[in-house]
Amino acid sequence: MGLFTKKPMHLLLEEAGDSEKGLKRTLSAGSLVALGIGAIIGAGLFVRTAAAAAQNAGPSVTLGFIVAAIGCALAGLCYAELSSSIPISGSAYTYTYATMGELLAWIIGWDLILEYAVGAATVGIAWSEYLNNLLVHVFHMKAIAYEWCHSPFEHSIADAAGVVHSGIINLPALGIVAALSLLLIKGTQESAFVNGLIVITKVSIVILIIIFGWNFVQAGNHTPYIPEPTIYTDSQGVDHHFGGIMGILGAAGVVFFAFIGFDAVSTAAQETKNPKTAMPIGILGSLAVCTVLYILFAHVLTGIAPVEFFRTDGKEASVVAAINTYMPGYQWLGKLVTVAILAGFSSVILVMLLGQSRVFYSMSKDGLLPETFSHLHPKFKTPHKANLIILVLVGGFAAFVPGDIVGDMTSIGTLFAFILVCSAVIILRKTNPELHREFKTPLVPMVPILGIIVCAAMIFGLGWTNWARLFGWLALGMIIYFGYSKKRSHLK
Ligand code: ALA
Repeated sequence: MGLFTKKPMHLLLEEAGDSEKGLKRTLSAGSLVALGIGAIIGAGLFVRTAAAAAQNAGPSVTLGFIVAAIGCALAGLCYAELSSSIPISGSAYTYTYATMGELLAWIIGWDLILEYAVGAATVGIAWSEYLNNLLVHVFHMKAIAYEWCHSPFEHSIADAAGVVHSGIINLPALGIVAALSLLLIKGTQESAFVNGLIVITKVSIVILIIIFGWNFVQAGNHTPYIPEPTIYTDSQGVDHHFGGIMGILGAAGVVFFAFIGFDAVSTAAQETKNPKTAMPIGILGSLAVCTVLYILFAHVLTGIAPVEFFRTDGKEASVVAAINTYMPGYQWLGKLVTVAILAGFSSVILVMLLGQSRVFYSMSKDGLLPETFSHLHPKFKTPHKANLIILVLVGGFAAFVPGDIVGDMTSIGTLFAFILVCSAVIILRKTNPELHREFKTPLVPMVPILGIIVCAAMIFGLGWTNWARLFGWLALGMIIYFGYSKKRSHLK
């Protein structure tokens, strides 16, 4: 058996039907949409939108959202077909194993660590930014010192005394990741309930900002809507293509982060009642709701404050900073947003940690990772050891790597996964035409091919430093595959 060994479809389906012995089936279509929105609205909207406006596109970040949404919708249609025909936990990893063989499955499983684990770290870092807001603006306390809430690779802008501070460790980010990992060990049912409450709060907050912010939009901040192409060098000395088409593509790659998560829905297939119909509803429903909200939100955010603000005073916790500075009389909204966002980010981290543990679970069941990763807790039926290992991994990224870097690594890793998912649909139609598909991607191969093109364009927009990081990560994965996993694969 070689690198291109495929996991037989009947084996997958048997495993899916075998859920008595494994994970509990508790989630309905409604809870999946909630799970999706819970995973989707988060740091991408409340942190990365302002970063994309500052570094890439100014007001035309809204166009970036449109590009990203198109890419997600196309890939989402492909995800929905796969998750309705292979209703088993593990997401893109499992689909690839069945369609394109073990090596590619490993690549994607390894790549999904970028999406889920590194993504969770990104949101943890965003959580840390807004925690400081809570302390200062809601509790009127002192902010946590710069050193203890930033990675060692970050430096502040000079303070009033002209001192530049450097980070040591991001303790709040580490703390929230640890707390949520422990919560997850207790089980998804409880977590899904708390998640439902948070989703309602989160959507309400976004709508409030759109409604109240609308009156404060200044036409001047939207002019020119698409800035002239230039190079912008940020405070850490990194160059970005700002303005023009490259700016929009770059922004699309950055804010793509805001859509990540709808596919996490598919990782919960094994815990879903009637996954064949519930999955497509969960995936596409949550995506549709978020797209509309995002475009309106980005229009308002870039309308109330100028780009320069998001490069300087409004660089961190940007949304609340903009409200407090440019929406007089709405301090209450800033406070409300801060509290809601902290809860909202927590739900995102939770779903991402869940997604990561389920991918590890599947990979370990297949022998590609040690058995520890699929060991279920005798009472809670959760992969508790995997959760603890993930805590260390995600905590490390959250504590020691800057938010911009982990954010863009998450985007590029996920875009790459999406490309493989789109390809899998085309391949599976050829190799397993008889497979029962509850949901069929329309216009195959056009939809998957367009999905591949749009996702590749966003990868292009993210620039060569991110390509290099993706390449490095995949190379590390190859070393582990050939050094460990290949020999231990159960299919072998
Ligand atoms: N889409 C999620 C967020 O924006 C990952 O936080």
